[in-house]
Amino acid sequence: MKHLERDVVVIGAGPSGLTAAYELVKAGKSVAVLEARDRVGGRTWTDTMDGATIEIGGQWISPDQTGLYSLIEELGIETFERYKQGKSVYRTEAGEAIIYEGEDFPVGEATVAEMNKLISIMNELAAGMNPDKPWEHPQAEELDKISFHHFLRENSSDEVACNNIGLFIAGGMLTKPAHTFSALQAVLMASSAGSFDNLVDEDFILDRRMKTSMQGVSIAVAGRLPEDTLFLENPVLKLEWSEDGVVAHGADVTVKAQKAVLAVPPNLYNRISYFPPLPRWQHVTHQHQSMGLVIKVHAVYDTPFWREEGLSGTCFGPNHLVQEIYDNTFDGESTGTLVGFISDLEADKIWAMDTDAERKEAILKAMAEFLGEKTLDPKVFYLSDFGSEEWTRGAYATSYDLGGLYRFGPSQNENVGPIYFSSSDLAGEGYQHVDGAVRMGRRNAARILAELDGTSYDESYDGVATLTAPADSKITV
Ligand code: FDA
Repeated sequence: MKHLERDVVVIGAGPSGLTAAYELVKAGKSVAVLEARDRVGGRTWTDTMDGATIEIGGQWISPDQTGLYSLIEELGIETFERYKQGKSVYRTEAGEAIIYEGEDFPVGEATVAEMNKLISIMNELAAGMNPDKPWEHPQAEELDKISFHHFLRENSSDEVACNNIGLFIAGGMLTKPAHTFSALQAVLMASSAGSFDNLVDEDFILDRRMKTSMQGVSIAVAGRLPEDTLFLENPVLKLEWSEDGVVAHGADVTVKAQKAVLAVPPNLYNRISYFPPLPRWQHVTHQHQSMGLVIKVHAVYDTPFWREEGLSGTCFGPNHLVQEIYDNTFDGESTGTLVGFISDLEADKIWAMDTDAERKEAILKAMAEFLGEKTLDPKVFYLSDFGSEEWTRGAYATSYDLGGLYRFGPSQNENVGPIYFSSSDLAGEGYQHVDGAVRMGRRNAARILAELDGTSYDESYDGVATLTAPADSKITV
C-alpha cells in the first residue's frame, strides 16, 4: 500500500476529474487522481474493433460548448465536421420511410405547426432559465410536478407532434421515458444547450468530432499531469473526512489530502462508504439522480453506401426500435460507419433477448427500414453497453426523477466539508456533456484554490476561461 500526502485528491479520471486535477496542478498544487478503471476517460472511450475505430462513449461537440472548445485548443486537439450532406429519412409511426430535406419532419402541415408551437413554448421557458439554477425559474415548482409526457399533451392534442418533440429530450438526451422526468428537467436540458432550437437541430448539437477521439481529450490531459499523479485501478470505496481534510482509500494507494474532488457520476456516490456518514440531505439527494439507458449501435461497412444514394445517413424514427441514425465515419476513412441509438424502453427489449445474434438481427432489420437492404450486412457490428459497466451503470448520464430537481437541485453543488462534487451531470451549461464535465472541473478547481489560498471565488465563473497559464514546471506540455 502506497501512502501519499497531497493538497487535493481527485476521485475519478473522467473529463471532469482530470480537468480539475490539471487546473490545480497548473496552479502549483499537489494532486493525486484515483481512478477505478484501467483507463482514463470515463464515459468517453475509444477502441478498435476488427480494425474499425469506434467511439464507444461521448463523441460530439456543439458550437456552444466553449468550455470543451477552450480545453482542446489548449491541448492542440483539432475537430472535424460530421458528414451532413444529403437528404434525411423519417420513419412514420405506420412504418413508412420518407426521404426529406430541410428542418421539418415530413409529417404534414398541421403536425409541423403543432411541433413548432411546442418548440416555441420550450424556447420561451428555456430563455427564462439560468441553467445553473433551474430551480429559480418562475415556474420551476409547477414544471417539476408534471412529467414531460403530460406537459406536452397539455399543450398539444397532436400525438405525433408530442412524440416527435418528446424524442429530442426523452430518447434523444435523458434516455428515459418522457413520463419519468419532469418538464423542468426537460427545460434544463434545452437551456443547457442555449435553447430548445439548438437541441432539435442535429446539425448544431451533433456538429463536430475530435480528430483523435473524445477519449483522446482525457488522455491528453492525463499526459500533462506530473509523474506519480494518476493511479489507475484504484477504486475509492472508503472516504474518511473531517473539516480538516480527507483520507481516500484506493486499492493500493491511500491519499491524505486537504480537499477531495469527487468526480464520479452522481449515481455512484453511494458506492463509497463515508466516515463519518454524509449529512442526511446528501444521503437522500443522491438517491434521486439516476442514469438513463441507451444502446449506441456501431455498424461499419466497406463504403458509406448511403452517400452514393444522396443520403446523409441521418434518420429519425420516434417509437421505432432504432430512433436515430447518423453517419459516424471518421475523417478520412474510406469505410462507412453508421451509429444508431436505442433508448430506454426499446433498449429493455433488446437486452431481454437471449442471444447476441438475435439482438444483431433485430437491430439491423430496424436500421434497414430506414436505409435499405445494404444496411443488413456490416463488416463490424458493436453495441456500446454502459449499463453493464460497473463504474458507470447506465448512459448517457443522470437526471432527477419527478420533483427531484426543484427539491434537491439547489444543494447539489454545495461541498460537504472538504468534499466537492464534480460531474457533467451537475453542470448548467453543457449539462450531461463533456463540456459540462470540463466546466465543473474548472469551477471546482477554482473554488478549492480560493479555499486553500484564502482568496475569493467568483460565483459567476462559467468554467470557460482556463484558470492559470500552464507555466508551472510541474506541467508537461
Ligand atoms: P465520467 O463518468 O466520464 O467519469 C467518471 C470517472 O470516475 C470514470 O472514469 C469512472 O471509472 C470513475 N469512477 C467511478 N467510481 C469511482 C470510484 N469509486 N473510485 C474511483 N474512480 C471512480 N457527451 C458529449 O459531450 N457528446 C456526446 O456525443 C456524448 N455521447 C455520449 C454517448 C454515450 C454512450 C455516453 C455513455 C455518454 C455520452 N456523452 C456525450 C456524455 C459524456 O460522455 C459525459 O457527460 C462525460 O464523460 C462525463 O464526464 P465526467 O468526468 O463527469 O464523468
